[in-house]
Amino acid sequence: MAHHDELIAKDIHAYLSAQENKSFLRFITCGSVDDGKSTLIGRLLYDSKLIYEDQLASIESDSKKSGTQGDNIDLALLVDGLAAEREQGITIDVAYRFFSTDKRKFIVADTPGHEQYTRNMATGASTADVAILLIDARHGVQVQTRRHAYIASLLGIKHVVCAINKMDLMDFSEQVYKEIEKDFREFSKDLGFIDITCIPMSALDGDNVTTRSERSAWYSGPALLGYLETVDVDNDTKGAPFRLPVQWVNRPNLNFRGFSGTIASGVISIGDEVIVLPSGKRSSVKEIVTFDGKPDSAIEDQAVTLTLHDEIDVSRGDIICSKDHPAEQSDQFMAHILWMTEKELYPGRQYLLKTNNKTVLASVTRLKHKVNVNDLSLEPGATLELNEVGVCNISLSAPIAFDAYKHNRHTGSFILIDRLSHATVGMGLLDISLRRADNVVWQDLELDKTQRAALKHQKPAVLWFTGLSGSGKSTIANLVEKILYDMGRHTYILDGDNVRHGLSKDLGFTNADRVENIRRVSETAKLMTRAGLIALVAFISPFRAERQIARSLMDEGEFIEIYVNTPLEVAEARDVKGLYAKARAGKIKNFTGIDSEYQEPLNPEITLNTVDQSPAEAAQQIVTYLKNNGYLETDKI
Ligand code: ADX
Repeated sequence: MAHHDELIAKDIHAYLSAQENKSFLRFITCGSVDDGKSTLIGRLLYDSKLIYEDQLASIESDSKKSGTQGDNIDLALLVDGLAAEREQGITIDVAYRFFSTDKRKFIVADTPGHEQYTRNMATGASTADVAILLIDARHGVQVQTRRHAYIASLLGIKHVVCAINKMDLMDFSEQVYKEIEKDFREFSKDLGFIDITCIPMSALDGDNVTTRSERSAWYSGPALLGYLETVDVDNDTKGAPFRLPVQWVNRPNLNFRGFSGTIASGVISIGDEVIVLPSGKRSSVKEIVTFDGKPDSAIEDQAVTLTLHDEIDVSRGDIICSKDHPAEQSDQFMAHILWMTEKELYPGRQYLLKTNNKTVLASVTRLKHKVNVNDLSLEPGATLELNEVGVCNISLSAPIAFDAYKHNRHTGSFILIDRLSHATVGMGLLDISLRRADNVVWQDLELDKTQRAALKHQKPAVLWFTGLSGSGKSTIANLVEKILYDMGRHTYILDGDNVRHGLSKDLGFTNADRVENIRRVSETAKLMTRAGLIALVAFISPFRAERQIARSLMDEGEFIEIYVNTPLEVAEARDVKGLYAKARAGKIKNFTGIDSEYQEPLNPEITLNTVDQSPAEAAQQIVTYLKNNGYLETDKI
């Protein structure tokens, strides 16, 4: 190593123990593309002699090949480790780096500057103590600076360094520095930072990075490294109660049952009383087992296995808490959600919510407002777009144990996952549970749907017709209902145009409104199955996600998806309502098939081909399906 800590050679044990006793600081760097982040970290490592010889040799040769600094060594190459980044000149992933000085150990998350990648910044920020926001002295505070400051504050970072970089290009003007400092302090005054330190810098030349620079004689604050070595972050997280989210139940033989995971917060000692959530069962700690022994106690961030004095049920996803300060539990919350993907968040759509080893279904029941990161004002909105932050009410399929994020970063955060693609689409911070959920209790009814359906000699079912406008959904549904009626069956049709005259009168045709429309209709269809009816639902219902939700609301076998497969050209040629002509003329916006998406079903129970089939034939195909699959038990009539 270029920086040779003599202890390593002389006494490796003493070196390791000195390392262990040093305090730890996690920080992130964020800034716009070209602000010089990677150069700054490279400079920090280089000037504090923390670069390995082999790394240095490879950077020297790379600097000549693809660097941007002529014959000088390009420090950004040290940090921009990924080939793709070098080619595009942007950082595209979170690069975690470990280094240490005599005073402290550091983990730095170098987070991408490209706007598209705010998600990575959020990932890095969720564990950081300090955020370094890079500002190009030539441009001052930008939208991106504000966004990063806001996200840092949202994620609980209390200490911020405003690294006003490229001061060499502004002749180290005190005036320039002061103006940027004033702007930033003004913007961030309500963000709850404990301290904001502004440092004039040239990462390229090394001014005020590891040592104070003479070129900014007017500046009396610390150099960046000095700040990082001394900033006090100990009080930020101290004192949080004990939480162990259980990652797995360790049962190698009948005599041992341990609960393993990483301690999210607090301290645990043998004999401590604990409560397991959600079951509420209590016990006390018998043993603490770690990788290298059986200590009497363990603290935050340690991976442990606990055994308890009592045989109680504990499963993956449960949280073992200190008995005196247990976590809360709820299935309805107010939360901040940071949306991380191109496809918008739609209230009403279901996502997988993952928190502390537990996964449940979640949907936003109300988007209360979005936060404008430019001035932190609150704005109304129907959806959340990439990089936007919204305050939402959310509802889960089952209760989870949690703490408010402001009290505990681990047990107060979650991620949202798309149900179909399994991509992570959002990150959330729990604010409070909505107590109203506690006061609504499910009422069991004396008669259930089987009894109601038996009276009608049928099985309840939902015939879900989906397809383009003008595909023939309503026509065919009507014919099917007529046949069933003649057979003495009890049915009801929910038709798109009709429901939009009443229940969904307030909704238009944006994606968000369609999601809500289908949510309402799905719930209504569910009520109809409870009444023992065969419901015929004829809606465009263009999105797979909502049709999947509808399916999952019904009992097994109750949901019959019928794809009315009519190609756009055919539906448009028919144009029964004259709407396609209007849409083509630009008089109707968001028209399905024209400027709004239709996602065809992947595995419908029934596909109707309305080009070669008459509506009567299509209706007969459905009735035959119902007969063949036992929906119409003739012997019961
Ligand atoms: S859905 O997408 O929310 O399922 P729904 O089935 O309720 O749509 O309503 C579709 C009907 O509304 C169409 O058959 C058509 O008559 C009418 N309509 C009016 N504007 C539009 C539009 N922009 N896109 C699709 N249908 C529209």
